[in-house]
Amino acid sequence: MAEEPSKPTGPDLSQGVALGDLADGGMLLGHVGDDAVLLARHGSDVFAVSAFCSHYHGPLAEGLLVGDTVRCPWHHACFSLRTGEPVHPPALSPIDCWTVEQRNGKAFVKDKSAAKPIARAKPSGTAPDKIVIVGGGAAGFAAAEMLRRQDYKGGIVMLSDDEAGPVDRPNLSKDYLAGNAPEEWIPLRGDDYYKENGIDLRLKASVGSIDPKAREVTLGNGSKVPYDRLLLATGAEPVRLQLPGADLPHVHTLRSLADSTAIVERAKTAKRAVVIGASFIGLEVAASLRARQIEVHVVAPEKRPMERILGPGMGDFVRALHEEHGVIFHLENSPVALEAGQVKLKNGGVLEADLVVMGVGVRPRIALAEKAGLKIDRGVVADAWLQTGAPGIFAAGDIVRWPDPHTGQAIRVEHWVVAERQGQTAALNMLGHREAFDAVPFFWSQHYDVPINYVGHAEKWDEIAVDGDIAGRDCLVRYRLGGRTLAVASIYRDVASLQAEVAMEKERA
Ligand SMILES: Cc1cc2nc3c(=O)[nH]c(=O)nc-3n(C[C@H](O)[C@H](O)[C@H](O)COP(=O)(O)OP(=O)(O)OC[C@H]3O[C@@H](n4cnc5c(N)ncnc54)[C@H](O)[C@@H]3O)c2cc1C
Ligand code: FES
Repeated sequence: MAEEPSKPTGPDLSQGVALGDLADGGMLLGHVGDDAVLLARHGSDVFAVSAFCSHYHGPLAEGLLVGDTVRCPWHHACFSLRTGEPVHPPALSPIDCWTVEQRNGKAFVKDKSAAKPIARAKPSGTAPDKIVIVGGGAAGFAAAEMLRRQDYKGGIVMLSDDEAGPVDRPNLSKDYLAGNAPEEWIPLRGDDYYKENGIDLRLKASVGSIDPKAREVTLGNGSKVPYDRLLLATGAEPVRLQLPGADLPHVHTLRSLADSTAIVERAKTAKRAVVIGASFIGLEVAASLRARQIEVHVVAPEKRPMERILGPGMGDFVRALHEEHGVIFHLENSPVALEAGQVKLKNGGVLEADLVVMGVGVRPRIALAEKAGLKIDRGVVADAWLQTGAPGIFAAGDIVRWPDPHTGQAIRVEHWVVAERQGQTAALNMLGHREAFDAVPFFWSQHYDVPINYVGHAEKWDEIAVDGDIAGRDCLVRYRLGGRTLAVASIYRDVASLQAEVAMEKERA
């Protein structure tokens, strides 16, 4: 999260800007009073909106204009320039808009105007009375928010077996774990939001079964909740390696706020940590623990961290980056037993550890769907509209495998932004719209001060083309198969990453 500069820079936009100085597709950063304002031109239209993203305050002037929208350089949120609406997550709050008056060849920014949602055509048919969302995570929350944004007046019940309401999960391995984000930043919304918006959020409410014929779910305590439409968004759970000592109290996994808080508590007194797994989560945890001055050892079976997703060049870079910050790797190795204060390795080595974090991947939580008789294929199978085979039941987020129009394959991914966007699409379709889910997958990861952004989906490639310098932290890496770019990873090449996203959106397999 970045702070907005206290004194806005650039021209005073209320005094007018010559239209000749703002090309079609151009952006200009200025201010109106104390507000930093972005002036943007699309054809003959000139728009003025807040200069900072409502997600983590990314500088929108360093992003990309696409038609009458602007995309944030940091995590690819997209806002309507006409209304300020957050068209694509991870931003879920609008940005401010100002009216713009054009006269005498100049654009003058006038008054702030309230953001409003884009008006969609009313769907045919009657709206469902009761919508039940199973899951209080990225997809579940984004769905509920979108239902109310669309002025849905029916009942929304959100059931979550977590003790915390929807939280900013990506932060749990980053700033929050590092001690740089206070707890109040973590909830996606305060408690009042749910009351004010008539969202019946029930925590510690574990759904035990679904009866698709009776259209009702049964909670662990036996109570039943009927639905007209149901969204399954049960996410994933961390894998806990079945090793002797894996259930010792100093051995943690990380998914929930409670998990992160427990690691923070342990980190207050820990001196040496062993992170098992050199994945995104494992290495983000390593970076956060280093920020707490804890000695960190990473144990993983692979030769290079993240090579399977990012290739050898980025893998070597990530390793070197962590080593620069003092992380000690034990690669091509694995733990065989955990004891109080020690981790025993396959190669006979022993590491001292008063904190162990397992970051060895997740398993989608599909048991509920399986029990309800939904079609399963390494995830819950849904169609392009995120509807499962059962009438009225939709699926979104880490559990869903959907037909991705860009790769031409049914894919399942574990990305925050994808889960939120799917939650929104499912919400619209539950209301009777017919929107296919066709977003290009995007994720980001943060290691110390280095962000890695990834657009697209490449399970395999036959060529990696590097533009720029990976070690110099200025690169765009393209993963190609048969000459076609399937995905790009980037470090500090935000506009190129956004441009690649726009190009991929147009491609169909
Ligand atoms: C620490 C951490 C950091 C991450 N960082 C990033 C990142 O930087 N970038 C990125 O793209 N992705 C990141 N991810 C991945 C991202 O958080 C997930 O892809 C995303 O949360 C998936 O959303 P979801 O709604 O499918 O599941 P979740 O957000 O996990 O939500 C699932 C919800 O379902 C509930 N639930 C499950 N089963 C039941 C049941 N039977 N009854 C009731 N409730 C149930 C759970 O309690 C939870 O509330 C991170 C994940 C973690 C854990
Ligand atoms: S700061 Fe804009 S999307 Fe995250």
